[in-house]
Amino acid sequence: MLFGKKQSLVGLDIGSHTIKAVELESLGNKGFRLTNWGISAPLAEAIVDGEIMDRQLVTDAISNLLESRAIKSRSVVAAVSGRAVIVKKITMNRLSPEDAKQAVYWEAEQHVPYDINDVSLDFEILGPAPNDPKQMQVLLVAAKKDMVMSFSDLIRESGLQPLIVDVDSFAAQNALEANYEFTPQDVVAILNIGAEITNINITQGGVPYFTKDLQVGGTSFTEAAQRKFSLSQAEAAAAVRGESSAGLEVVPVIEQACEGLATALERAQAYLRTAGEAGTVTRVMLCGGSAMTPGVAEFLQRRFGVPVEIANPLARIAYDPALFAGQDVMKVAPLLTVGIGLALRRLGDKK
Ligand SMILES: Nc1ncnc2c1ncn2[C@@H]1O[C@H](COP(=O)(O)OP(=O)(O)OP(=O)(O)O)[C@@H](O)[C@H]1O
Ligand SMILES: [Mg+2]
Repeated sequence: MLFGKKQSLVGLDIGSHTIKAVELESLGNKGFRLTNWGISAPLAEAIVDGEIMDRQLVTDAISNLLESRAIKSRSVVAAVSGRAVIVKKITMNRLSPEDAKQAVYWEAEQHVPYDINDVSLDFEILGPAPNDPKQMQVLLVAAKKDMVMSFSDLIRESGLQPLIVDVDSFAAQNALEANYEFTPQDVVAILNIGAEITNINITQGGVPYFTKDLQVGGTSFTEAAQRKFSLSQAEAAAAVRGESSAGLEVVPVIEQACEGLATALERAQAYLRTAGEAGTVTRVMLCGGSAMTPGVAEFLQRRFGVPVEIANPLARIAYDPALFAGQDVMKVAPLLTVGIGLALRRLGDKK
């Protein structure tokens, strides 16, 4: 720690529904302490499909959020998702990490559908290929430079300093690994169910074996309820949260809307099994605001026959309960998962 100053970082999760800020202070070997958190008012169409439509609205929302919650730290870790990033597992000849650097670059040209000069590349050697010891598996992360740049600029325009730009689904994984004890045998499917997008990340032993973004979330649940019961958008949103007084049977509608999610998970699982890469999913962890939608966890549990739970990304993080005055922590924490995973990052960390 520099001159005994406590290092605190702000994780900034810029979602399509709201912006979430999480400030964590490192307690050295005693873990982390939540010093502050905040969720903006809904953004209304300022971010569509992961792309920022109204920069001014977003930068104002970020500065207002930090100011209203009295968050002092200007050091920010943010994340991109969706079309800006490609995460791919590739198999290539076994090489030392040094030699791999150059080789990965050439390999990436075949796997990334953009000009290689337009992307920032990052990689992690996962280990020998299961079927051929002369080959190794490498996790390739390619992010479009212009999108990462424009994102960092946005953070600077909000008066903050972007230290790291991460990826949503890795941040969710990071948050959960810091709060749960997964065994090397556990195959954990992490689903970050937001408003527009669900990030799927199937992990084992800390390795993200399969990642995919699906267009499923609170918005699709609301739209399904709107169509089914001819409700206004506001009425449907309340019904989906289980807050409707009309006694509508909304759970079957939500289950129907989750069908694509279940199918995608089944396919991913079958693919990982055939490739001999990871075992069958043993545990499903849900996070993101729409993870709290009544019926979702139960539906997935019935479908997959494994424990499905709404994750608590604050399980092992210290905090003063006064920070949640008047609110149920378990109703807020799932929304903060990505922000927590980001604020846990420290410069020099590996992805
Ligand atoms: N208690 C709750 N019960 C059910 N749904 C909720 C609850 N709280 C929030 N939501 C829903 O969760 C969604 C917001 O979740 P989240 O903040 O994770 O999304 P986001 O990060 O803004 O969006 P995305 O990641 O898709 O761009 C909204 O659709 C909201 O209606
Ligand atoms: Mg999100």
